Amino acid sequence: MKVELAKTAGFCFGVKRAVDTVYEQIALHKGKKIYTYGPIIHNEEVIKDLKRHGVEVVDSEEELEALTEGVVIIRSHGVPKRICDMLERKEVDCVDATCPFVKKIHRIVAEESAKGSHIVIIGNSEHPEVEGIRGWSESPVTVIQTPEDAKSFFLPDQSQKVCIVSQTTFNYNKFKDLVEIIEKKGYDIIVLNTICNATKERQEEARKIAESVDAMIVIGDKRSSNTQKLFEICRNACLNTYYIQTLGDLNMNQLGSVETVGITAGASTPNNIIEEVQNNVRINF
Ligand code: F3S
Repeated sequence: MKVELAKTAGFCFGVKRAVDTVYEQIALHKGKKIYTYGPIIHNEEVIKDLKRHGVEVVDSEEELEALTEGVVIIRSHGVPKRICDMLERKEVDCVDATCPFVKKIHRIVAEESAKGSHIVIIGNSEHPEVEGIRGWSESPVTVIQTPEDAKSFFLPDQSQKVCIVSQTTFNYNKFKDLVEIIEKKGYDIIVLNTICNATKERQEEARKIAESVDAMIVIGDKRSSNTQKLFEICRNACLNTYYIQTLGDLNMNQLGSVETVGITAGASTPNNIIEEVQNNVRINF
């Protein structure tokens, strides 16, 4: 019996950094209240554990404004500049765990908009990362997600400079297609591909493993969209694929008599859960 664990399973660099930051702050500020602005990751187990350590999630700008003390941690998605400015004015300490790849987009947007470029973000306007990026521009921003959005993109001044960036998790082929549509409009365009490869690499490795094993286990929170996507990819390559949140969801009998099992996990699945599943699969076969 062979068990193959994907090297890219679980937290990406930015999420790991953000989660580690919360635990560091807990250790550093015993007795001080710790808040995260939004859940640090979409994983019930981690959020429960942080709650046990007294960490509270602040969900809205109003709640944030109402805080009078404590430490606020900004998650890897980042926030609009006005939130950083607001926290600076207040007595609360702010620890910025924005992923450096997202921070780089904030810098590009701030600089290019200051130079007079119109900013286009290829991404989902509802996503907090996009909301954050938008909030670093000094001028109006257009968010483009679909070919229809791209086709209807219009600026009255044809000589207007346009700077295009992307949400880090956007699909590269879709990004390329949307950029092509915008390029045909004749504006003075610079395109910066700011897509992060962590998701793509995780998906490609998962597909390769799923193609070569008898059964595949995908670990992740049921509400995590990247885990659902990972499950679909594995399921297409290996019919015998199981989606579990924790070891408790894994029915060893279901796996049947297999010789090889592959394991991967979504970006918000902590290492201890992955380890636990891996060890149990190894022991039970
Ligand atoms: Fe950062 Fe890429 Fe993860 S942008 S948060 S390392 S998916």
